Amino acid sequence: MKTTGGSDAAKRRAGERAAEAVADGDVVGLGTGSTTAYAIEAIGRAVDDGLEVRGIATSFQSRQLALEEGISLTELDAVEGVDLAIDGADRVVDDPESAAHGTLIKGGGAAHTREKLVDASADRFVVVADPSKLTDRLEASVPVAVLPEAHTVVAERIAELGGEATLRDAEHKDGPVVTDAGNLVLDCAFGPIGEPGELAERLSSLPGVVEHGLFVDVADATYVGTDDGVEVRR
Ligand code: 5RP
Repeated sequence: MKTTGGSDAAKRRAGERAAEAVADGDVVGLGTGSTTAYAIEAIGRAVDDGLEVRGIATSFQSRQLALEEGISLTELDAVEGVDLAIDGADRVVDDPESAAHGTLIKGGGAAHTREKLVDASADRFVVVADPSKLTDRLEASVPVAVLPEAHTVVAERIAELGGEATLRDAEHKDGPVVTDAGNLVLDCAFGPIGEPGELAERLSSLPGVVEHGLFVDVADATYVGTDDGVEVRR
């Protein structure tokens, strides 16, 4: 599984601890990325031991892993609710004094559209992260999924909002990254983001934007894997 930085041991601790929160009979949102993969693998082991759960995958990647792990899958429109979602993040604001505490930037894996849908639908959404994801101020670029034909128009609107949009390129082939839903991704640098809620609303209102990676007031807790344990931030 490809990782996006941070220690694998810390990611494993966070993912495995989050998996312990899954109860028999739960519908579980299965996030995307290397940290969540440890949670999915741990859920798979629990399923081998008799745990009964239904997973909702947030990406092709998490679907494939869940299938390999023997986890039954369902869809959001086939269930009455999602009990728990477990998902990673690229940045987590960790400053209890700040109004932005708990805000996330997601979308490093270009899966944030479905991730936001599933994570926000869950009764409880637990973020799994290593300490490299924690920040006291948001400065990372924000992934924005756009309709393919809208990427130039949206990039212009992003510039009017004070950002600089870069079309995400595929690493190993020519051409842009295409999401599971067939959209493109603009990585949008805004510098320090003082009011993530305001920026989130503005991005959502742009025609052609499918979803952006700012998750404001969505997460209930963050499990941070450390060198010797897991810290739970709320
Ligand atoms: C995918 C995501 C991932 O959750 C995020 O990129 C974190 O990934 P990792 O756990 O591999 O660092 O938002 O769209």
